[in-house]
Amino acid sequence: MPRHIGIIMDGNGRWAAGRGLPRFEGHRRGVEALRRTIRAAGDLGVGFITIYSFSSENWTRPPQEVADLMGLLKRFIRNDLADLHRSGVRVRVIGSRDQLAPDIRALLAEAEELTQRNTGMTLVVAFNYGSRQEIASAAKRLAQRVARGELDANAIDAVMLDAELDTAGIPDPDLIIRTSGEQRLSNFLLWQAAYAEFVFMPMHWPDFDRSALEAAIREYAGRERRFGGVTGAPATRVAMIGT
Ligand code: IPE
Ligand code: IPE
Ligand code: MG
Repeated sequence: MPRHIGIIMDGNGRWAAGRGLPRFEGHRRGVEALRRTIRAAGDLGVGFITIYSFSSENWTRPPQEVADLMGLLKRFIRNDLADLHRSGVRVRVIGSRDQLAPDIRALLAEAEELTQRNTGMTLVVAFNYGSRQEIASAAKRLAQRVARGELDANAIDAVMLDAELDTAGIPDPDLIIRTSGEQRLSNFLLWQAAYAEFVFMPMHWPDFDRSALEAAIREYAGRERRFGGVTGAPATRVAMIGT
């Protein structure tokens, strides 16, 4: 069983287009798929699930679609936060908050604060998230500490950079699932996915459900993970970060 699953929820627009519906309808049905998936992952005992909800690059979509996606996030938190909290889910948000509207920032903060002491599954919401931006911000913060004389530049290593990322304290994803048939990361968890297993599914996100999640986990369970080592050799684990 993977400890951490990342999900690139893709194909809402194509799901809708295939049915002659507006893209918004695909996004709305995508939220229902998300609810099912969170419940199923919790039941299966998954520790962490990271959902790619809005990328740094999704701002380039038509303004109405961006507004629709912002509206759906707000509605999701307003409708579902109490339920998530009752189920013991801990919410973490990764991504940049700078460009977000104040009401969205407040809702994200509320979700994190309300659930921070929960001990069930951690739901990591990647919103206005881009992995390159995240890594660049982390590098900038380390550089600022060097400039202030608080840090020796020679001390910077992968463990230190890892701890500056938005995902600090969250184990690396073991499994990354992408729906819609596309086989790319689209700026999702580039650093953290160093040793992740990828499962690309041909279905569009609104059709994703418990059985699709179970199928992806079965596929993962059949993979041989080596982390650069040799099969069968005793595991001398040398400073693997993010685990
Ligand atoms: C995923 O579905 C939702 C977001 C990116 C927010 P898309 O909207 O990307 O759907 P397609 O890929 O155009 O079908
Ligand atoms: C990735 O999907 C982002 C989310 C699922 C939120 P996109 O639909 O934005 O990715 P590309 O443009 O097909 O690479
Ligand atoms: Mg897409």
